[in-house]
Amino acid sequence: MRVWGKRVLLAGIAVLVVAQFIPVTGTNPSVDPTQTMFARMTVPAEVAGILTRACQDCHSHQTTWPWYSRIAPVSWLVAYDVYAGRHELNFSEWGRYAARRQDRKLKEICEQVERGKMPMPIYAVVHPQAKLTASDRKAICDWTEVARKGEATTTAPGP
Ligand code: HEC
Repeated sequence: MRVWGKRVLLAGIAVLVVAQFIPVTGTNPSVDPTQTMFARMTVPAEVAGILTRACQDCHSHQTTWPWYSRIAPVSWLVAYDVYAGRHELNFSEWGRYAARRQDRKLKEICEQVERGKMPMPIYAVVHPQAKLTASDRKAICDWTEVARKGEATTTAPGP
């Protein structure tokens, strides 16, 4: 029994070591500062602060990749969430979205935070600063409502 326990442990370590040879490197593609959501729309400082601390890691090209995100198999999971998150909503590519898509994304941002689906719960466990309060959620939805009426977009600088 003791011998087997040791073998299982060694096998586990071997698998982890081999896993490191399947690297999934988290990258941050370059950002065109004229295309970001913050450049294209008026985002109140409070809301910008919330989006930066709770959403930016998965929804922009400005991801902070912590050390454990470099170690397999965590690296695979983190990279997957970041790529899937960027695919759905990317603050760094906002200017490339058609107006209708921007409008839909704004609606979804409010819906996702109101339902407690975003930020992803597992992320909030590891990043306590990402947890949203009721007033954070209200600030986000108040802003998306104004932005969807177009008031916020009219002041956006040109490309
Ligand atoms: C840990 C990574 C992560 C964080 C942090 C995160 N998201 Fe997401 N988000 C995802 C992933 C992955 C998806 C796509 C898969 C899904 O819908 O679950 C997604 C999808 C979305 C969508 C599209 C939903 C849909 O069904 O079309 C919106 C809107 C969104 N996130 C908003 C936010 C907002 C707002 C925050 C911050 C308050 C946030 N997310 C934080 C990973 C993240």
